Amino acid sequence: MQTITDISIFERNRIAENDLWNVGEQKELLLHRIHAYPAKFPPFLVQKFIEHFENRGKEIRLVADPFCGCGTSALESVKLGKDFWGCDINPVATLIARTKSSAYRPTYLNQLHEAIILRATVSSAKAPKRYYENQRLKYWFDPDTIHRLFRLLLSIDKLVPGGKYRDFFLTGFSNILKPCSRWLTKSIKPQIDPHKTLAQPTIAFDKQIKMMIKAVKEAHKSVEFQSRVSIVNRNFLNVQVQDSFADVIITSPPYVTSYEYADLHQLSAIWLRYTDDYRNLRKGTIGSEHHSNETGEIYEHVNQVAKGTYDKLRKLDSSKAKSVLRYFYDLELAVKRIKQIVKMGSSVAFVIGNTSYKGVHVDNAKSLAQSLLDNNFKNVQVSRRKISYKILTPYRNELGRFTSHAHGRKVYSHEYVLTCEK
Ligand SMILES: C[S@@+](CC[C@H](N)C(=O)[O-])C[C@H]1O[C@@H](n2cnc3c(N)ncnc32)[C@H](O)[C@@H]1O
Repeated sequence: MQTITDISIFERNRIAENDLWNVGEQKELLLHRIHAYPAKFPPFLVQKFIEHFENRGKEIRLVADPFCGCGTSALESVKLGKDFWGCDINPVATLIARTKSSAYRPTYLNQLHEAIILRATVSSAKAPKRYYENQRLKYWFDPDTIHRLFRLLLSIDKLVPGGKYRDFFLTGFSNILKPCSRWLTKSIKPQIDPHKTLAQPTIAFDKQIKMMIKAVKEAHKSVEFQSRVSIVNRNFLNVQVQDSFADVIITSPPYVTSYEYADLHQLSAIWLRYTDDYRNLRKGTIGSEHHSNETGEIYEHVNQVAKGTYDKLRKLDSSKAKSVLRYFYDLELAVKRIKQIVKMGSSVAFVIGNTSYKGVHVDNAKSLAQSLLDNNFKNVQVSRRKISYKILTPYRNELGRFTSHAHGRKVYSHEYVLTCEK
């Protein structure tokens, strides 16, 4: 790690890669794979950060992740016997995170699983009109699939009306929605695949839940699940929490306009009744492209890196430029909030990547480093790490899939690790 006192090191592109952050020594728990989620960080990083800080004399009882996504840091913290506080604005993320970090009895899961499948199979219930007349559902699903999914959800509602077991089955239900729909497989943009063979909901759910129960059994061999875990579905910028409660923060903040989390999880958001219109979930999401009207007087409140990027981008696409400016402003607020919640002398670790738009390099990492320095964090250190699977396929095609063809949008093969202390 290189300690920095200014951001010139980014300009000269001299940030060294550190192998420490590149590879994990332990096999990843299957629980990390129970639900797809974009931009997860590799689980081993959490363990490495905790070890790194503990080796430097920090006492860590509670780990916090203000952008906890699908709960990678939650599960890894629990695995190491640490308490955990996590926050994410996306309700699908916090559902998965709660499921991954809870203790379950596999025999009870098996019983519920069988009962849900049986009930859904014998049921002849029809989805109410509001389902099959819903424009979004009609767009993604065929009518027969809508009825079958409705029966599965009704069975979950009847047999598991609340609590962590409900979270478990809803997580499973959520993860089969894309395979059962016309959503182009693995696309990070909402795209129809007209030639897709749709999965049958009951079969897909059965397979999914079996995999999840296997994952629970595997986790229980090495994880005690004794930690206190709190995961909140809130906007981190205005969540109500005590000051100075975290012993360490390990997080990967959103990157600017790279993923539209609300759009990507629209099928789950509609089926799980989080909202009638998934676009409502974009509100408050940092890095969304849809914040171009919310710039106000913020230019004066962002750092030089952000201003420079905005000025370049404004000439090419003023709406996108405004969204980018808003992102930098929100991240600045997040840094201030992070400083409030972490204890004096405690450490913070960020994993963050860069993006580019219309040839303009959007240096999220450099801007974050500048914010940390501006907010008087001490011992700001930086290094680079490889994003392994992007090395062979470093571009995205027009459908948002990774590709090795150079006509796609460039995806970076490295991201940055930034650490600092309050
Ligand atoms: C890079 S992802 C984090 C992924 C996570 N490390 C994991 O392994 O799943 C960034 C997350 O920030 C969340 N997010 C965006 N804006 C937010 C906000 N205002 N408050 C809380 N979370 C937000 C997104 O929903 C997304 O899950």
